[in-house]
Amino acid sequence: MSATTNTDPFVLAEEAAAALASAVGVERHDAAVVLGSGWGDAAAGLGTVIAEIPMSSLPGMPAPSVGGHKGTLSSLSVGGRAVLVLAGRCHYYEGHPVATVVHGVRTAIAAGCRTVVLTNAAGSINPAFGVGTPVVLSDHLNLTGASPMAGPFPSDRGSRFVDLTDAYSPRLRALAHRVDATLGEGVYAGLLGGAYETPAEIRMLRLLGADLVGMSTVLETIAARHLGAEVLGVSLVTNLAAGLSGDGLDHHDVLAAGLDAGPRMMALLRGVLEGLEGPETTM
Ligand code: HPA
Repeated sequence: MSATTNTDPFVLAEEAAAALASAVGVERHDAAVVLGSGWGDAAAGLGTVIAEIPMSSLPGMPAPSVGGHKGTLSSLSVGGRAVLVLAGRCHYYEGHPVATVVHGVRTAIAAGCRTVVLTNAAGSINPAFGVGTPVVLSDHLNLTGASPMAGPFPSDRGSRFVDLTDAYSPRLRALAHRVDATLGEGVYAGLLGGAYETPAEIRMLRLLGADLVGMSTVLETIAARHLGAEVLGVSLVTNLAAGLSGDGLDHHDVLAAGLDAGPRMMALLRGVLEGLEGPETTM
C-alpha cells in the first residue's frame, strides 16, 4: 500500500482514483468488475487490456492475501466502454477495517464508474443451485455485524442511511437474464467468515431465507449504493454449503469450481458489460 496520511475514506478514494487515472492513462471509467475467488480467469478475454497495475500501488489499497485473488487492477476497453477489473478483493475477516474492505469500490466510483459488478464464490443453500452455477443476487442478508455506514461519517457525503430496497439493480438483473436465460436468482447471506459455517448455521440461514452463503460483497454493495452506483451481484456456486453434501469444505475445491466455470462466467460478464446502456443513473 503506498503511503498516505488521509483518514477520510472518501478523500482517500478520490486520491486513489487520481493515481489510477495517471497510472493507466485513462481519465474516467464507466463500469467496474470485482472478481471474487475463482473468478480470476473470467477476466481473460473480457476485452482489450489497456493497462494493468498492482492494486497495492494505489493509495489505501492493500494487496489481497487470499489464494485465488490476483491483486491486479486492469483498465479494459469492452464494447467501447472503459471498464476497470479489480482481480481480487480484501475481506473483513482478514482484519481490515470496513473502510479498507470497500475502498476498491469507492475508488472505482470516484474514477467515474456508475455500474459495479460484484462477483463472488458462494456455498449453495438452495438445492436448485448446483456446483458450477452462476446465480444473480436478488438481495442480501448482511450478517457481518459491520457496515461501511457505521462510525464517524463526514457531513458532506450525503446521508448515511442508504436506501437498500433495490440494492441489486432490477435493470442490471434483467440484463443479466437476457444475456444468460438459464441464470437463477437468490438471496446471498454475507457472513464475517474466516471459517466456513457449521451445518447448524446453514440450517439457520435457510430458515432466514438465504439461498447462498459467502464472506464478501455485502459491505461493498452498501458502499456502492451510498455513492449512487448501480450494483449487479453474481455468485458462482463453488460448493454445497456445510452439511448439505457428504463431503467437508476445502478452499481448493472453491478455486477449482471457478476454473471449470470460467468460460461461462466470462461470457456472462462480457454480455452484461456490452449490454450496458447509457446514460447511467445519476447520484
Ligand atoms: N461458505 C462461505 N463462503 C464461501 C463458501 C461457503 O460454503 N463457498 C465459497 N465461499
